[in-house]
Amino acid sequence: MAEELGFSKGLAGVVADATSVSQVQGEDGRLIYRGISIEELAEKSTYEECVYFSLYGKMPTKNQLTKFNTELRHNRVLPKAVEAVIAAAPRSAHPMAVLQAAVAAMGFDEQPVNLKNEEANIHNAIKIISQLATAVAHISRDRRGLAAVSPNTEMSHAENFLYMLHDKVPNKEEARIFDVALILHLDHDFNASTFSARVVASTEAKLSLSISAAIGALSGPLHGGANEKVLEMADGIGAPEYAKEWVLNAIATKAKVMGFGHRVYRTMDPRAKVLRGMLEKLVATKSDKSTYETLRIVHDTMIEELGKTSKDYIWPNVDFWSGSLYRLMDIDSIDFTPIFAVSRVAGWSSHIIEMWRDNRIYRPSAKYVGPTDAKYTEIKNRK
Ligand code: CMC
Repeated sequence: MAEELGFSKGLAGVVADATSVSQVQGEDGRLIYRGISIEELAEKSTYEECVYFSLYGKMPTKNQLTKFNTELRHNRVLPKAVEAVIAAAPRSAHPMAVLQAAVAAMGFDEQPVNLKNEEANIHNAIKIISQLATAVAHISRDRRGLAAVSPNTEMSHAENFLYMLHDKVPNKEEARIFDVALILHLDHDFNASTFSARVVASTEAKLSLSISAAIGALSGPLHGGANEKVLEMADGIGAPEYAKEWVLNAIATKAKVMGFGHRVYRTMDPRAKVLRGMLEKLVATKSDKSTYETLRIVHDTMIEELGKTSKDYIWPNVDFWSGSLYRLMDIDSIDFTPIFAVSRVAGWSSHIIEMWRDNRIYRPSAKYVGPTDAKYTEIKNRK
């Protein structure tokens, strides 16, 4: 229908704006943040340095990074109103719903946006990036019936998050793996949540409310919610020996395999490659390898079977391996998508700040296909 009517369903291939925050090179399986490949950043950088790079558009000097880290670390404590919103949520609520409300509550005392004051907008973004991590850890502990752990200003963003989640200082290797996972999820050009953030911010709405909208978009199983669904799938399969048959049946019945497929990539998602490399190293140190083994067989069978077809658009994406990595760090599946937001908030903020330099409200058109001269019937005469 879309083709006949002359529009692109799901805005596939539609260019909505220009950006220099990141680029997905779908044919080559490459992702760059402001020109630098994610592989190089994953090897040499830190999440904090990448956040600075993303927000300010240039790499920080040593002094600039120290100052930036201090600001991030000293904004970690949640305002009372945000804590109250988290405490008011029922334990049965999905953490993405609680997070969306908590981030909206960060806007209670936020000043109206001044597009010309970019410095103030960046400082506001730093505060939200910092507080969002605390909110995710507190929401998780609250759901598990555990007391919140206050943030620690001596630790990096990744270390402090794991510390607040588990009430235990993480070992250096796991903290670094988590730091790299945050780098890999930081941005991904005009994905659904970033686009949502941009649409809301284009109305000159507050940053916190635009980010809250993006959290809603990220929660869906077709987007960030897929990482939780991948683990649900692995648990449903039950054990590695059932994985191959499960995939063959999924292909035969045209069922969706979560963590596979992408609008832009026509080959392996580069983030999935880096995540798998880290996962293999971590899994070698653990005794329970069953989730990884199940997913490895799902992965290999999918590639083998789809390789026999012309479906070059179904490859593993970032959400396929991230969950098994987090599970090895004793993180509950339900917290995987909020963790995606812990990282992506920096990308959302960078896009908004970039867009506000030359803002125009998003207001696309629709192809109206309804009647044009219908008559109003009084209620008493309706059948
Ligand atoms: N398993 C099986 N078949 C698939 C899958 C999959 N995961 N993904 C797409 N297909 C098929 C789909 O059925 C369709 O087949 P056909 O042409 O025969 O009708 C074809 O591939 C095109 O799929 P589409 O849904 O029209 O593609 P899209 O670009 O609109 O959607 C997607 C992209 C990511 C939403 C989709 O691939 C999907 O639902 N994947 C599973 C969920 C997932 O892993 N999402 C994470 C996305 S990446 C990271 C993130 O955003 O968080």
